[in-house]
Order: sequence, then structure tokens, then C-alpha cells
Amino acid sequence: MLEEVIPAKLVVVISGSGSNLQAIIDGCNDGSISAAICAVISNNPDVYGLERAENAGIPCVVLNHREYASRESYDHALADVIDSFQPDLIVLAGFMRILSADFVTRYPGKMLNIHPSLLPKYPGLHTHKRALENGDKEHGATVHFVTEELDGGPILLQGVIAVNREDDADSLSSRVQKEVEHFIYPVAIQYCVTGHATLSNGHVCLDGVALPTGGKVITLL
Ligand code: GRF
Repeated sequence: MLEEVIPAKLVVVISGSGSNLQAIIDGCNDGSISAAICAVISNNPDVYGLERAENAGIPCVVLNHREYASRESYDHALADVIDSFQPDLIVLAGFMRILSADFVTRYPGKMLNIHPSLLPKYPGLHTHKRALENGDKEHGATVHFVTEELDGGPILLQGVIAVNREDDADSLSSRVQKEVEHFIYPVAIQYCVTGHATLSNGHVCLDGVALPTGGKVITLL
């Protein structure tokens, strides 16, 4: 008798247009990610990402941060919703809120984020503008495990592209999203849900081998 394989469960947390969410939905549908998205949670009720989730038949939960008195109370409610779905992996995909330490420490090695720069360069906002102002020849995006340090958790995967002479912040942002983020996030998620990537004592291991601090680097020049 064939054993039934239960796919890993993902909860994806968003704040915006959800283009990364779409890449993850597509990856789950075409089999490149061995998982199913059991819920999409947004802190913003009016975003296109929710429409993408609904179109894909994925349950959506809106948890509007404006209805909570403090960061702690919001994060508590968010954790309750996440835990109700019992996900194997929590995927932050453009979730534009700083998370409290109490929240983050609930999910060691179980929460990923994607950031639009080659960390540790440019944590925070305006990453593309900052890369251009510094005259960087290369730029990209990073998938990392989430820790208490904003954009500072252990790095799993980076994707690198060349900065073009004619790039401005908008064109660079668009190229990083389309050419890098939508490619590396599904790859990183697949590493995690298949157990190829793990976090142990703050170090990312891929197939049992500790990665350097910059993670695995994919050059897409
Ligand atoms: C992405 O650029 C991601 O790197 C950043 O937020 C943006 C989200 O875009 N964290 P989208 O909502 O996935 O289109």
C-alpha cells in the first residue's frame, strides 16, 4: 500500500501586493515547493496579496494592527492565529512590521523572511536607493531565518544580480523582485520543508554542512 505523503504546511504573512506570495503559490502548485499554504495572514485589509490568496482558494485572515493597543498585544494575537494552523514553516513575505522578541523566539528555525538587499548590507528600508548611492556593482536579495535582530537573522540564501548603468531605484527594485526574490524564496522554502536546510545553534546548515555567514549564494548576473 502506498503511504500517504502529507505536505508541509506554510503560513504566509503579508502586508502588500504579494508578488512573493504568488511565487510561493505557483511553486506549491507546480511541485517545486513540497508544501501547501494553509493560510495567508495580512495586517492590512486592502492589499492585492489577499486577492491573490482568495483566487488560489487559500484561507485568509486579516489581523489589522490598527485595532491593537500595543505591539505586544498585536503579536500575541498574530501568534494565536498562526498557531491555530499548526504550520511547519512561517513565511514572512513583505510583512512590514517589526516583530517583538517574545513573538520571534516562539519560532526558532521555523520562520523565514526575505529582504531586498545583500545582507548584512542595507538592513531596513530604501535598500535599492542606498545600493545605487553607494555605487554598488551588485545587488540582490536575502532569505534569512528570523531572529530578534531586525533583518539580522542567520542567512540561508542570497541571489545576486548586476546593477545596470541605467538603473534607478524603481527599476532596480523591480528587477530584484522579479529576477531574484521570486526565484530564491521558493528555493529556500523548499530547502526548509524538505529538511535540507536547518538552523542549529544559530548556524544554517545545508545538507548537514554549515554555510558561511552569507549563506548559499546564487549568482544570476
Ligand atoms: C519585497 O521586496 C520583499 O523583499 C520585501 O517586501 C517586498 C514585498 O513585495 N520584504 P510583495 O508584497 O511580495 O510583492
